[in-house]
Amino acid sequence: MEIIIQSDSQAGDAVAARMIAGLIRRKPDAVLGLATGSTPLGLYRELVRMHREEGLDFSRVTTFNLDEYIGLAPDHPQSYRRFMFENLFNHINSPVERIHIPDGMTDDVPAFCEAYEQAIRDAGGIDLQVLGIGTDGHVGFNEPSSSLASRTRIKTLTRQTLSDNARFFENPDEQPHHVITMGIGTIMESRQVVMLAFGANKAEAVSRTVEGPVCAMMPASVLQFHSKAHLILDDASAAGLAKADYYRWVYANKPDWQRH
Ligand code: F6R
Repeated sequence: MEIIIQSDSQAGDAVAARMIAGLIRRKPDAVLGLATGSTPLGLYRELVRMHREEGLDFSRVTTFNLDEYIGLAPDHPQSYRRFMFENLFNHINSPVERIHIPDGMTDDVPAFCEAYEQAIRDAGGIDLQVLGIGTDGHVGFNEPSSSLASRTRIKTLTRQTLSDNARFFENPDEQPHHVITMGIGTIMESRQVVMLAFGANKAEAVSRTVEGPVCAMMPASVLQFHSKAHLILDDASAAGLAKADYYRWVYANKPDWQRH
């Protein structure tokens, strides 16, 4: 894993946006995996800026989102479809037919999940997957104890995730307990992974992901098996890392030809 520690989330967003923009410039028909939640908001703002000011072109880019709440209509204020359009797709030139977000209203979840996996394969696989991390170590909505080989499917959220995300729901009765999420096996097939984690509340999950054992109780730790995973942190989320000085030194001394 490449551990990139920046002083704050804004600097981290800029590193992640440069990686994504570099990929799109090298491969204009790149396939991106995208996340929602608070963490990627700054990254999406930076990508929108690059589109407006630098002409970053999304017209041939295909996207697959990680997850969606079951039972929320696409226009529900808390649906991840709405989140993605409000925070990214309405502001860039992504053709709607290239945007894929799990359908939380499907009446056949297993068939939908199989079709989603097939659509990813048909697109040639994901070139770069953006991830956040839950305070309990989830990636996508693969909660602790998820199979490390899992595919897109229904999951039940833990109490911890429900309480972390309760802030988004004015009416607690509207907060779904079930989601459709890409599996850990699906995520691991992405050719490159960029995980963002900012803030002190992520420090424990980050240290267990990077320096703990790989285990299903800390799903993000599986990234230790990914050959091209980058973790972009701020000082606060990196605070629990025993080898933080080493990671900082490695990144500061990265040869120019290796820079993003
Ligand atoms: C969202 C997702 C989740 C979030 C995680 C962190 O699509 O897959 O894994 O990345 O719950 O959420 P925030 O960023 O709100 O702390």
